[in-house]
Amino acid sequence: MILVTGGCGFIGSNFILDWLAAHDEPVVNVDLLTYAANPKTLASLAADARYAFERVDVCDGVALKAVFAKYQPRAVVHFAAESHVDRSIHGPMDFVKTNVMGTATLLEASRAHWKSLPDAEAKSFRFVHVSTDEVFGSLGATDPKFNELSQYQPNSPYSASKAGSDHLARAYFHTYGMPVMVTNCSNNYGPRQFPEKLIPLMIVNALAGKALPIYGDGQQIRDWLYVGDHCSAIRRVLEAGRPGELYLIGGDAEKPNIEVVHTICSLLATHAPGNDYLTQITTVTDRPGHDRRYAIDFSKLRRELGWRPIENFTTGLEKTVRWYLENSAWVADVQSGDYLRWIAQNYGARA
Ligand code: NAD
Ligand code: DAU
Repeated sequence: MILVTGGCGFIGSNFILDWLAAHDEPVVNVDLLTYAANPKTLASLAADARYAFERVDVCDGVALKAVFAKYQPRAVVHFAAESHVDRSIHGPMDFVKTNVMGTATLLEASRAHWKSLPDAEAKSFRFVHVSTDEVFGSLGATDPKFNELSQYQPNSPYSASKAGSDHLARAYFHTYGMPVMVTNCSNNYGPRQFPEKLIPLMIVNALAGKALPIYGDGQQIRDWLYVGDHCSAIRRVLEAGRPGELYLIGGDAEKPNIEVVHTICSLLATHAPGNDYLTQITTVTDRPGHDRRYAIDFSKLRRELGWRPIENFTTGLEKTVRWYLENSAWVADVQSGDYLRWIAQNYGARA
């Protein structure tokens, strides 16, 4: 069996659903169920004997030890994190705790488990640490894309805490020989993303007739990847990646934010006609320290492991918009009092 952390969040839930659609190997999902989790996301697995859930904090070493003893996983895929840049600006300490301390605690529990395995099982054990391109900082308009040799230059409390976790993961390979691999991916979008991030926020606000808040000039560029393609890349790294290596994952889909929002508006005009969504676009005060451009050169992953994305931005965004239109109950579920407080805190003070 494999152990997945953060499996009730956006990418982790997509990873578990895709995994169980393709494999019979069981999964144990370790998740604390923070605001970013929706346990109903995996309701379809409630009666599936291949799926187990443990509500555990990755900062809790004692509880993690018990999970490893109970399930004896052959691999760990570590998604659990605080993941939203704007929240890290309002409250960095949660990010330091979960992303740095949580990863350190999980690495320690994994090391104890790995050391207890017979030789052959210890050799095939794998730990995949799921990280972000944001650890490399910000690119200028004509800079070459990030690659595995790019320098770490994190700019936000979120990316700095993820950089800390990447360094710990690397150290466990170099110091202890634990078979750890790190993946650094660009911006994901797709079904089940919490509507605090750009694409789902714009879809749900547009449908509700609310403002579509563009930070600053809207010319910041992100390299968008459909979540199913991120999941297939992680499966490939788990299967055939080399321990100790870093793998960058991207979508070859650099887009300025304003273009992304215009495309969402025109997709909604086709699938949910009624409003003139473009008129809802509003410019608001920029994010402090806002990174200008991310772009990924994923040629190592393509060359060594034969991975490439299946979706392009047009097909992926079409699927995403349709998913949100067909899953309004899921959206209503996550728009709790806590969500509304966050929206007021983050957008209320912006001019
Ligand atoms: P998310 O915020 O949607 O989900 C995070 C999950 O982790 C939630 O289910 C939450 O309950 C859980 N969690 C948080 N703190 C925990 C703790 N202390 N113990 C146990 N569980 C805890 O995040 P996401 O967007 O799915 O991102 C998953 C991972 O992928 C993160 O590590 C993130 O840094 C990385 N990543 C995300 C993107 C992206 O575009 N979303 C891109 C590249 C990398
Ligand atoms: O690059 C990978 C990273 O992508 C992940 O590691 C993070 O977990 C994930 O949140 C994402 O970070 P970003 O900050 O790039 O994503 P976000 O969706 O928050 O914002 C995307 C862009 O849109 C960014 O330039 C900020 C802008 N934006 C965002 C929001 C929420 C707006 O203009 N308005 C908004 O309301």
